[in-house]
Amino acid sequence: MFELYPKSGKIILKMKEEISPKGLFITIEGGEGAGKTTQAQLLREFLAPRFPTILTREPGGTPLGERIRDLLLDPGLRPLNPRAELFLFLAARAQHIDEVIKPALEKGMIVISDRFSLSSYAYQGFGRGLDINLLEMMDEFARQGISPDLTIYIDVPPEEGRERLSTATPFDEESLDFHRKVREGYLHYAKMHPERVKVLDGRGSIEEVWARVKEAVEELIRRWSDEASNNGCS
Ligand code: TYD
Repeated sequence: MFELYPKSGKIILKMKEEISPKGLFITIEGGEGAGKTTQAQLLREFLAPRFPTILTREPGGTPLGERIRDLLLDPGLRPLNPRAELFLFLAARAQHIDEVIKPALEKGMIVISDRFSLSSYAYQGFGRGLDINLLEMMDEFARQGISPDLTIYIDVPPEEGRERLSTATPFDEESLDFHRKVREGYLHYAKMHPERVKVLDGRGSIEEVWARVKEAVEELIRRWSDEASNNGCS
């Protein structure tokens, strides 16, 4: 943020002009039928009148990402090798980071992503059983140092989530056992990173879950906007 200028023996602090206040990156996660897409939209509607906000999704968010999404959700290409599946999610993420997420954060925007890295951890790591350490390294390579300020995990037991589904993707058609492992992955990660991941009960009406989501983000948004306006004034 500041540059040190050693001039005639004095140290002067000079604000770098090109640096704008940092944006805020929020990701929403959940298993099948958790209602996270609805909650992500409500969050965007809540924030957009006050802050420059974008809502994006994974896999997707870019023309390449949307094409990769079509491949991943095509039942005709199943079964897909789990490593190939991971590479496809990561390819979509790498493009998403460079084309959408990083530029928006650099402009000081709020970026909401419907799914992000934690989905790979839960689905490919726990669900498919791929090596977690390797997966995290590969994901880091795709993310290039960008990570969410807050992840909201909307937790619904897989048995209940399944009953709420209207359409089914190849992932939805996986066994209940697969979805139990995915949930275990989410909860495991959340337990290890309580400061970054908020687990919310996804049961109840849309309004009830929204009240929980709103409460989880409000404090963070307040701190972030205070910080941004302080930086803007100094
Ligand atoms: P989608 O239709 O977006 O499902 P949902 O409405 O539940 O978000 O399909 C995306 C599927 O991709 C979803 O089942 C989870 C899966 N997924 C992974 O397995 N790994 C990942 O890294 C991501 C981003 C998604």
